Amino acid sequence: MSTAQIPTLIPLEALRNRVTALAQEIRRDTPDENLHFICVLKGGVMFLSDLVRAMDGRVTMDFMALSSYAGTSSSGEVRLIKDLDYGLEGRNVVIVEDIVDTGLTLHYLQEILRARNPKTLRTACLLSKPSRRKIEVHVDYIGFTIEDRFVVGYGLDYEEQYRNLPYIGVLQ
Ligand code: IMP
Ligand code: MG
Repeated sequence: MSTAQIPTLIPLEALRNRVTALAQEIRRDTPDENLHFICVLKGGVMFLSDLVRAMDGRVTMDFMALSSYAGTSSSGEVRLIKDLDYGLEGRNVVIVEDIVDTGLTLHYLQEILRARNPKTLRTACLLSKPSRRKIEVHVDYIGFTIEDRFVVGYGLDYEEQYRNLPYIGVLQ
């Protein structure tokens, strides 16, 4: 399918406005300190890059990769594929994820990162599909709450495709 045929759920302008508001909110919650963003590859990349560019003050970043979806339904299995370059001891950590669906990935991630003794650990997700939750998970900052639709674009993929769409679209 050509990307031109993917219907829009969240247009670019709405993404930009919401991400800017989230950046300001996150900074307001930790005004004078460094914020250490952990981007979950690869879906969180566009969100992270817009988020940090909309933010004032000191920021550092690190990246990790977890096993992701095969197709459109979660296997429920989470695997660490690439670990962080830096430790988290004493840092104000913010996890940056594309979407929280069943919650299994984020739950796993929060557990392993909390064990590394950050000063604070918070989570920012661009999207949330609450009707799909299998496990309760705390998310501090949510961009948009959406229905149970499979979405692509702005970093989110279907079998590695469509990450480059500049908006969030629905795959039918
Ligand atoms: P969870 O463990 O079920 O919460 O799944 C989280 C991961 O599944 C996300 O980080 C995405 O990589 C992927 N995912 C869940 N829903 C979607 C979707 O609608 N589009 C693209 N990827 C999705
Ligand atoms: Mg992901």
